[in-house]
Amino acid sequence: MRVLVTGGCGYIGSILCKLLLKKNINFAVIDNLSNSSKKFLPLNTKFYLGGIENIKILKKIYYEFNPTHIIHLAASIDVNESEINKKKYFINNVIYSKKFLNFFISKGLKNIIFASTAAVYKYDKKIIRETSKMLPENYYGKTKLFIENYLLAMKKKNKLNIKILRFFNVIGCDKSIKIGNTSKKSKHLFNNICYSILYSKQFKIYGMDYDTPDGTCIRDFIDVLDLSKIIYFFINNNNINKNIFNIGINKGYSVLEIINKFQKILKIKINYKLGIKRKGDVPQLVCDNSRLKKYYKNRFINIRTSIINHYKFYKKFNKKK
Ligand SMILES: NC(=O)c1ccc[n+]([C@@H]2O[C@H](COP(=O)([O-])OP(=O)(O)OC[C@H]3O[C@@H](n4cnc5c(N)ncnc54)[C@H](O)[C@@H]3O)[C@@H](O)[C@H]2O)c1
Repeated sequence: MRVLVTGGCGYIGSILCKLLLKKNINFAVIDNLSNSSKKFLPLNTKFYLGGIENIKILKKIYYEFNPTHIIHLAASIDVNESEINKKKYFINNVIYSKKFLNFFISKGLKNIIFASTAAVYKYDKKIIRETSKMLPENYYGKTKLFIENYLLAMKKKNKLNIKILRFFNVIGCDKSIKIGNTSKKSKHLFNNICYSILYSKQFKIYGMDYDTPDGTCIRDFIDVLDLSKIIYFFINNNNINKNIFNIGINKGYSVLEIINKFQKILKIKINYKLGIKRKGDVPQLVCDNSRLKKYYKNRFINIRTSIINHYKFYKKFNKKK
């Protein structure tokens, strides 16, 4: 098995690569470093600097490494930016992904894992299943859904083994507290809370009149270490016939509940106030993960550990500068 990880220098990618190294998987990374740096990549990783659309680099990867599996993480990831700059998201997430996938499919590659998102679903008050209605509320979600459909169409024609993993909200960091989410583009709830705590700034809640019990948005949070193990599980289990999986823990926490957990666990006070609602945010996104759990039997990290580790990493990383 030779695994090519796109976007392997990013938040999820760098923690995944550490796991692949530990598991003795032969892997290589392609990343244009548009939202990352090489500093979290394990030493001696086969690394190709450049865009996934760069055919010259793809040819080089093919001749030097000839991957049998692709884990496609590279993408532009900011929901709000995607609403403002649709063209950028269409080019990077759709056109470039297609170009990249076509190149390797045309060379006979069969195994593809695609990092999709909960943002592909139509908002539903109920818990979301893989079969729930899809209708992205934001442009980022639309670009991901486009590639999902493209892969499913390519699967039939080319007898591909496709796994579409719809990540819910990813939190936490590596066990060593040395690798985590440093993305400047991240408007992630956990990073925003950590920022408020570390710099004693008021935390703004993006809307408190949603149709939820406490008026704040509810999300399903999965630890990045669990997510990496799940991706590793799928590259090792080619015989699962389902193509699409929700990757979440099947439990929702509201923004206020998360703030309260941070306060209680870290024994601090968070000063918060109402901020402006963001376009594309939906009241609730919580998944039914029973399809995943039918195959993947490991227990998930509890949110207390994720909160402690996320904050420790954020503090350590931001104090260094
Ligand atoms: N973090 C989350 O909560 C979350 C939730 C749902 C889905 N996802 C998906 O998971 C994947 C990884 O997310 P992340 O949080 O690690 O993001 P990230 O921004 O940290 O990582 C993405 C990486 O891709 C690289 N990249 C972007 N465009 C590229 C291109 N054209 N060519 C080469 N490299 C390119 C960036 O430099 C970065 O290193 C993304 O596809 C994202 O949509 C993430």
